Amino acid sequence: MSNAPVPLAETKSTPVLTTTMAHRGLSARAPENTLSAVRAAHAKGARWIELDVQLLGDGTPVIWHDSGVRRCSNGWGKLRDMDIARAKRLDVGSWFDRSFAGERMATLDEMLALVDVLNLSLNLEIKVNPGRDARALVDAVLPRLMEALPAQRLILSSFSEVALETLRAREPDPEKLHLAVLHKKPPRNWAETAMRLSAYSLHVDWRRLDARTALAMASSSYKLLCYTVNDPQVFARLREWGVDSAISDDPGRLVPF
Ligand code: G3P
Ligand code: MG
Repeated sequence: MSNAPVPLAETKSTPVLTTTMAHRGLSARAPENTLSAVRAAHAKGARWIELDVQLLGDGTPVIWHDSGVRRCSNGWGKLRDMDIARAKRLDVGSWFDRSFAGERMATLDEMLALVDVLNLSLNLEIKVNPGRDARALVDAVLPRLMEALPAQRLILSSFSEVALETLRAREPDPEKLHLAVLHKKPPRNWAETAMRLSAYSLHVDWRRLDARTALAMASSSYKLLCYTVNDPQVFARLREWGVDSAISDDPGRLVPF
């Protein structure tokens, strides 16, 4: 009997990928992971955006990349030690440009409302920073996500196998929940992992991807995405290798929308 993964049938729940996605919103032009970055991505014509989600110490899911706030705000401290009132006092725009002064950290609920209004599709990275609880994060975000967006407009990605396993356990149907396995450097057993998780796609750091692995991935039943691609020549090469979509800080540099 063949051990090959069964390709997902193209159904009305299948995501319609575009060749680029805006990484952390349009993060080259607006502060990453903010409502402004998502509005900017939409204004430039993006249909898909990638964002990161994690929990504050009080359990509120927020759109944020780092474990702390120092790099992307006017404050300091770890998310795990912060409640929503303290997080909302931060200015998360001025560090990028003073024209974004007063920008506030977005909760997941606020971001989902915007994604809905703009009719965008979302690749949401379940960001499990060191020492954080992957299962608690999944359980806080998954019900909100599945209520807010149709399966066709949602991909959940993670570097954390615990997060991906928990997601798949909560929703075993791969047509109802599209999962993406994130890899820095693809391990030899990438296909086994993807099959075990009934994954939809593989998201790989292009700098650690060689032609041979790319071709094997691209000819598998999984979609292949690369991050973070900002160079048009790299984009052209990846597309030749069969990469379906590039996650970019500035997708307009790669291909006119
Ligand atoms: O989802 C792709 C990419 O966002 C993964 O890395 O660190 O930018 O979240 P990072
Ligand atoms: Mg990310």
